[in-house]
Amino acid sequence: MRIENTGTTEHIGSVKISGTRRMLELDSGSVTTTTARGKPETEKVSLEAIRNIEQRLAIVLPCKNEDLKVFEGVLSGIPHDCLMIVISNSSRESIDSFKREQEVLSRFCHDTQREALILHQKDSFIARALEDSGYPEILDDKGLVRNGKSEGMILGIIMAILSGREYVGFIDTDNYIPGAVLEYVKHYALGFNILPSPYSMVRIQWRYKPKVSGEIYFKRWGRVSEITNRYFNHAISERSNFETDIIRTANAGEHAMSLDLALRLHYATGYGVETQELISILEQYGGILPVTDRDVAEKGVEILQTETINPHLHKEKGEEHLLKEMLLPSLSVIYHSPLAGETTRQLITRELTEQGCINEGELVPETPLMPPPMKLDMEKFKGSLEERLPLYSVPSGVILTSKAPGFTPPPRPEAPVRVLFTDLDGTLLHPVTYSYVACLDTLRSLQEKGIPVVFCSAKTRSEQMAYREELGVKDPFIVENGGAIYIPRDYFRFPFAYDFEYEDYLVIELGLRFKEISLRLEKARQESGLPLTGFADMSIEEVALKTGLSLKSAEMAKQREFSETLVLEGDRQQVQQALNALKNAGLDYVFGGRFYEAMAGNDKGKAVKILTELYKLNYGEVVTTGIGDSENDQPMLAEVDEPYLVLKADKHWAGIKLPRLKKIKAVGPEGWSRALKDLAV
Ligand code: GDP
Ligand code: CO
Repeated sequence: MRIENTGTTEHIGSVKISGTRRMLELDSGSVTTTTARGKPETEKVSLEAIRNIEQRLAIVLPCKNEDLKVFEGVLSGIPHDCLMIVISNSSRESIDSFKREQEVLSRFCHDTQREALILHQKDSFIARALEDSGYPEILDDKGLVRNGKSEGMILGIIMAILSGREYVGFIDTDNYIPGAVLEYVKHYALGFNILPSPYSMVRIQWRYKPKVSGEIYFKRWGRVSEITNRYFNHAISERSNFETDIIRTANAGEHAMSLDLALRLHYATGYGVETQELISILEQYGGILPVTDRDVAEKGVEILQTETINPHLHKEKGEEHLLKEMLLPSLSVIYHSPLAGETTRQLITRELTEQGCINEGELVPETPLMPPPMKLDMEKFKGSLEERLPLYSVPSGVILTSKAPGFTPPPRPEAPVRVLFTDLDGTLLHPVTYSYVACLDTLRSLQEKGIPVVFCSAKTRSEQMAYREELGVKDPFIVENGGAIYIPRDYFRFPFAYDFEYEDYLVIELGLRFKEISLRLEKARQESGLPLTGFADMSIEEVALKTGLSLKSAEMAKQREFSETLVLEGDRQQVQQALNALKNAGLDYVFGGRFYEAMAGNDKGKAVKILTELYKLNYGEVVTTGIGDSENDQPMLAEVDEPYLVLKADKHWAGIKLPRLKKIKAVGPEGWSRALKDLAV
């Protein structure tokens, strides 16, 4: 198969959504075409790769009193390797339609050597098992599973898990074109091939939604979908302040998910179900509500929207029925989501009033939601249906008894994420020798535990990059006393505002650029007549001599972007004079232990705060630790939950007063190791 590879992709929190991608050919042949370089215009997925997914895919077929010929046609369109799961809510009274469906499925499976599952939504054993295993929300007041396609879909998801499949796709059984059915499933399989996240979804946009009325004519994509997409996009635009029309499949009945994702969503009763799935994804993982599921936040949810080649032709129930029964629930789930802002809600109310779905002044009714199927105790469910399960399989007794794996529920959300902010000079690095050897063991164990180690120092980008390289640290870092934050490009999934890109880093700028600082320094010199010697005025050799750094390190120390290091010599009074001159020229300064840093806007505390916010957006709960040695670490230490202070070379602590500050009785790296050893276990 071959799909178009152009178009937009949008990131909303940890959710990544593709704009609609067109399928170009259903069979792309056996020759592998290689593209020279860059992003190819089209993406080809091999037949083997498609098969591989189909063997792990269950297709749920909701069915309510559909024409048996049409039903049979749909079956014949489902690829052989997929497991078919029919969830029927057809009448069993005067004519037992369910029995007919069982017969059709049974004959089909016999002729094609396939296995399938079929069960009735109103089966009282199923209802009991659901109640016993903690999912009563799906039952009606008679204690049976409620009517509705979405309830049928949830049953399908549960059966797909019991059968040991990894993906679930939905296909309506009122589809007149088996070739279209085949294409939908191929789209699903292609999608799970190209979406890397284990939490993925494929949603299909029909190219046309034709109607049957005497003659066939092709009508552009249905009206309900058009309206639903419009308000869905409006909600996202209002929320994120950027105009988008990325959502094209808010009502897509034809869609598929990894079961890992399906288990985590809230499902609406009635016709709002497909819209609500998207809402549920964005609410939970779009940065709207606090992230609860760290694994999903890390790996991200990926949604592929595709457009079909085959037209969609199904039983029409009239525009009237569509508007009243579909538009109201679809817009209601958007309206009642925390995703929708005030304007979106007002517009939805107006639309529903104009369409006659609600009366003037009437409130938009709320659509009841069902909790994520993860809530259900799968082992218990399986246990209480033990004897019934073989009856649901075709041929009788095959699938569930032989293949059902013990389903292990996903792990509970982990403990809060820890983040370490550390100063370098005099803390991780020895104040005299610059050695970090004493830290190495503890640093390794922190890294093994996955605790981010964020450098927060007066050092420049090039100096810090050298240490990151040597120590194998891959986390963001704060340069030049909070002058800027460097964040590896793919480090966070959540999008954030940054000022510029540098190689593989996104950079948030807090301080004034070096060029502007030089100008102000020059002004200070002229006005005060003091030398105010900075690293820029010194040769590499001079810097090396002054600092005790190697030539290479001295060179890197000179490469300043957001501050200038000043060597202020003389007695206390002379130094004070120099500092006043800086102030008068609009520069701030901090004392870094030996030298003064001149700058404007740099803020270690603010930088720590910004990064902490980013960690929280991505991982939910976060506990921060900070460690430093001198006065200029105070803003960083004030910002963290657990501040530590190590001894300076002269065996004294810097004069920092903070309520929670823990003072460690050891110099630099020894103190570092001692303070953080417990974090690492
Ligand atoms: P539309 O095609 O989106 O207009 O919606 P339909 O009413 O045609 O239903 C879509 C699919 O869901 C069809 O295959 C129906 O047979 C099926 N369906 C409708 N209601 C129910 C129900 O209560 N339970 C189950 N299991 N399937 C249903
Ligand atoms: Co239909």
